[in-house]
Amino acid sequence: MTDPSHESPLTPIETLGWEGGVEGHLHMIDQTRLPIELVEIDCRDAETVWEAIQSLRVRGAPAIGIAAAYGVCVGIQNVLDADETRFYTRLEEVATYLATSRPTAVNLFWALERMKKTAWDARGRHSREIAEILLAEARQIHEEDRQMCRAIGRHGATLLADGQGVLTHCNAGGLATSDYGTALAVFFAAAESGKTLHIYADETRPLLQGARLTAWELQQRGIDVTLICDSMAAQVMREGRVQAVVTGADRIAANGDTANKIGTYSVALLAAAHDIPFYVAAPTSTFDPAIATGHEIPIEQRDPREITHGFGRQTAPEGIKVYNPAFDVTPARLITAIICEKGIIQPVSRERIAELVAIDNPPYHK
Ligand code: MRU
Repeated sequence: MTDPSHESPLTPIETLGWEGGVEGHLHMIDQTRLPIELVEIDCRDAETVWEAIQSLRVRGAPAIGIAAAYGVCVGIQNVLDADETRFYTRLEEVATYLATSRPTAVNLFWALERMKKTAWDARGRHSREIAEILLAEARQIHEEDRQMCRAIGRHGATLLADGQGVLTHCNAGGLATSDYGTALAVFFAAAESGKTLHIYADETRPLLQGARLTAWELQQRGIDVTLICDSMAAQVMREGRVQAVVTGADRIAANGDTANKIGTYSVALLAAAHDIPFYVAAPTSTFDPAIATGHEIPIEQRDPREITHGFGRQTAPEGIKVYNPAFDVTPARLITAIICEKGIIQPVSRERIAELVAIDNPPYHK
């Protein structure tokens, strides 16, 4: 792979892509190996795509959705010349299977529903032709995400002033999307418009997406970034080092309650206590109008060993009880504004969200 330090400062990272035609394959950066190694893996069957999503080789809500869309394309390669019944049976099987890889980010279900609808709309054609239409749809989802990142960056950058300190949690950057991110897009767009920001990146326990991915991405692209442990955010705010918080999202309920990486809710509470605006940056594919409030958002529970044996070293007593939710829900009342590609949602209310987002975002069937 190319060394990103040779790229122009704000060149987006190619997190994932498709090689070839309908019989081609998905390739992606293996994010579990960053920041030590920048290596790609190839996914040539649905099982490899499922494993890559489940084990966070590809992660971040938009990237998961795009990977799943391409996952459908690899999953149907064994029925390209099959009859209609076998083709659609396999399509449903692959989509249902990929939907079990992770439960919280709605982009996964959104992309799979979109792929299924595309296939059913093409009914009557030869299977190979439908597969071609599906590949074009996956590429379209990928391309739309690029545009969304750019628009989010443009809208979000207007909320930040030159010289500000900004805190972010987890990784909502180029690695989590097809372009230069959602939360990080705001920082990149601000930098492109000549503003200097000082970013504080929470390390993001237990899997360290902030330390391994956000710190790496920002450093590679010449943005001033300081890494802190999650537990330092309050002190950093009290010292007046940050004037805004920007995070991504995994699922936004109809009322604006937002699921994001575990620890986001604590950051939002701290921001409120210090009178600091708390912004969420997310594309419309992250909104779930079928869910009224955040109480209904399924929260992924992950392997206790991520806490007791993080990165290969035992750090807790054998047999200890562990609770490891991967996400939490920040209530809408703590969110100053949501930045999406269609504009800035402020105040964060059911009505304002419905006006901007819900109209052309149908409910998903999970
Ligand atoms: O478990 P992860 O690493 O997939 O969690 C990712 C996040 O919580 C991101 O903030 C979110 O998906 C937005 S990415 C643009």
